[in-house]
Parts: sequence; structure tokens; C-alpha cells
Amino acid sequence: MASTHVASTHGAAQVLVASNRGPVSYEVQEDGSLRARRGGGGLVSGLSAIGPDAGALWVCSALSGGDREAVRRGVGEEGVRMLAVPAEVHADAYNGVANSVLWFVHHMLYQTPLEPVFDAGFWRQWENYARYNRAFAEALADEAAEGAAVLVQDYHLTLVPGLLRKLRPDLRIGHFSHTPWAPVDYFRMLPDQVVREVLEGMLGADRLGFLTRRWADAFTACCTELAGGLGGTEVGVHGLGADADFLRARSHEADVEKRMATLRAEIGAGRKAIVRVDRTELSKNIVRGLLAYQQLLDDHPEWRERVVHVAFAYPSRQDLAVYRDYTAEVQRLAAEINSRYGTPGWTPVVLHVKDDFARSLAAYRLADVALVNPIRDGMNLVAKEVPVVADEGCALVLSREAGAYEELGEDAIVVNPYDVLGTARALHEALTMPPHERAERTKRLAAAATALPPAQWFMDQLRALTG
Ligand code: G6P
Repeated sequence: MASTHVASTHGAAQVLVASNRGPVSYEVQEDGSLRARRGGGGLVSGLSAIGPDAGALWVCSALSGGDREAVRRGVGEEGVRMLAVPAEVHADAYNGVANSVLWFVHHMLYQTPLEPVFDAGFWRQWENYARYNRAFAEALADEAAEGAAVLVQDYHLTLVPGLLRKLRPDLRIGHFSHTPWAPVDYFRMLPDQVVREVLEGMLGADRLGFLTRRWADAFTACCTELAGGLGGTEVGVHGLGADADFLRARSHEADVEKRMATLRAEIGAGRKAIVRVDRTELSKNIVRGLLAYQQLLDDHPEWRERVVHVAFAYPSRQDLAVYRDYTAEVQRLAAEINSRYGTPGWTPVVLHVKDDFARSLAAYRLADVALVNPIRDGMNLVAKEVPVVADEGCALVLSREAGAYEELGEDAIVVNPYDVLGTARALHEALTMPPHERAERTKRLAAAATALPPAQWFMDQLRALTG
């Protein structure tokens, strides 16, 4: 429910979540009014699981002009406190440090002959990253009840646990990383001061959560080598799973059925569909996915006219030129494949870049093959969602560098994401998998994928922190 004041618990919150992006965003309409939009995701389900009377508060940052206007007008949502971090501080913290440096380090995305360069501009951004983290720590210190539990999210807020610990030693502080963690040699590309501050910040928590054992071990190794160990901080693994009940119900609603009809027409009768759905992050490897598909059409011309690559690449972080360029390259290559191989009745690649959740679910339902080939990924929920939703079951081609590999590797066709020829072979194998094997594997994939649904994932962390 929208309320006319910015929610503050005045120091009474028992459970606090802190994240850069909150569960709601605002847009200024033409008539000057504000429109609120609510988001989904694991944390939203988790918080709804603890119920409305649990004294929960979500502290997040204003991200857009609309958000800042909402804070200025005192418009807010029950249970959400949005921080009006100044736009230039937020830009340096979010685009400059979080997305251009920490994200690059944890996903190992640098082309190291030329980058990274830690120059004077970086240190100005780092100052603002610290300022932005302080704003969170102060708000949390202000809102938390005596002994409350605070769950800090992700690489945007690595300094918060340490800062908050100093302000409020009584609190139980957790931090969860939704990304991979970099290996030691890659992590220490960061300037020594940044390495020290990030690790000290994180180690201010009582407990740190990661999506897989691999990322937890990488973090522990960084602490052992670069910070003299974990101190008293506990490290745990919580592999976020897909929400089966929600997905099964949502994917059978009328808007999804309608989009299935449109997609079927785009694919063409009797053809197989290789489906991928991604936010266009640099780590998703969409370009090599297209190259592998092209290789498949070269190596196995018998698939021409008989298969379509349905690729949804939804733009993200478009403030950054490298992200815009990457989306453009995806579009260019898809068009090139279509003009080189396409025929009057067959479009080999159906690419959509406009975000549409109902259409994503429609594609999941129609998928014969799901292609999930990131060069590195914290988990990758698409790999977990498609097997749950696909009407006829699907074969999963999965990168061994995705966190989901730890749980799904056995029943997927596993690829090295850099190996385009190997990925093409995997696509062929997936397309030719016998129906009974595909059905059996899908069953096991769906079971593994839904082992830890979002509400339980959240409650487990809370219990481990406070228990
Ligand atoms: C990815 C990561 C999350 C991160 C999110 C932020 O999905 O897996 O760890 O929190 O991006 O996305 P945003 O659009 O807010 O930059």
C-alpha cells in the first residue's frame, strides 16, 4: 500500500534488508504524479514469508530521478526506506565502482593489457562508494532495534557490515553475495587499500553467505592470503532455487498463452527451439552463443530450416558504454546470421531486446533446448527455471562456470563457455537427445532446481544468523 510518508521504524525494526535496488521504483508521470512499480525476486518472496508483523524494513537507494522525487515528496511504501543518495555519489558508487570494477573483478571481465587502470578518477569514485556505503550504515544503525538482524546484499555494499558493526555492536549482521567471488590472483588486481577495505568491510559481518561452495571458498582464500584469515566471521552457502509454485501458476496465465501463439508463429511449425533468456550483462556470453549456433548450422546443415534460436537479451546498465556496445554487437551478429542463412520462410535467430516477463515464460514453455553459457555467473536462475516450466521438458546446455552447474551439472550437457565448437556440438547433442532421456533428465533438473525456493533460502539465512 502506498503511504504518504517515508517509512521509518524509528529504531524498531527487527529484521532489516539492505540493497542498492529496492522492491519499488517510481516514475514521474506526464501529469506530475508518481507511479510506483513493484519488483519481484528472491528477497521479495523471502520478506513476504516472514509476514507483515515481523517488523521488517528494507533499506534501499533511490536510483532514478523518479525515486529521488518520491523521497523529496515524502512518498513511500510501508516497510521500505529509500535513501536519497545524491545522483553523482550514486553514479560513482554504482556505475563507477560496483558495476565497472567490482563486477568486472568477480566475473573476470577485464582485457588486462589495457585495463583496469586505477587512476585519480577511480579514487574519486571510490570516495563516493565509501560515502554511499556510509549512508546505508547510518540509516541501518538508525532503524534497527536492539539486537536486530541485518541482511546486507551484494558487492554494492561491501563496506556496510564493518561500518555498521562500529556504530551498532549489538546487531547480528549478515551479508550475501549474489555474484561469484574472484580467485585470489584476480582479486588482488584491486589496489591494496581497496582489497583491505573490502575484506575488512565484509568481515565486519557475523556471517557471510554465497550461492555456491566455489564462491565461498574463493572468498575464504582471499581472506587467508590477503587479510590474515576470516577472524570470527562464519561463511555459509545458500543455493537460491527457483520458485516452482509461482512459475507453474504464472506461466499458465492468459498473457503467457497469448505470447506463446505469437512465438510459435515466429518459430514456424515443426521446428525446434533453442531458447536463451538473459539480462544483457557482459558475463552472459550471448555473442559466443550466437557463434556456436552459427557453427551448428555449418556443421549440421540438416538443421537449417528445422531449428530456431530464440534469444531474449534484455538491456541492463545502459549508462555504461560497454554494455550498450555489447547489446549492439548481439543485434549485429543476430542480423548477420539471419541474412546469411535465412530463407523466405525461416528466420534462424529470433532476437528480442525489450523486457517482457510473460514472453520469457512463453519461451521457457516452448523450449526444446535451453542455452545457458555464461563465462561466469553467481548462480543463473534461468538454468533452474526452464526445466520447471518447459511443456515437453528440455535439454539444458550449461556452462561449467555458472553457479547452477554445482547442482545441475549431472543432468545438463556441460560446456566450456569459451569453446564455440564444443558449444555447437553440445547444441547438436541437445537437439538429438532421445525424448525419454530428455524427460528423465528434465525431471531431475527440476527437482534439483527447486530444492531451495526463495522463501526458504531467505529463512535459512535468517535462522543461521540469529540462531
Ligand atoms: C545481477 C546479479 C546480482 C545483482 C544484480 C544487480 O543480477 O546477479 O548480484 O544484484 O545483477 O542488477 P542491477 O540491474 O541492479 O545493476
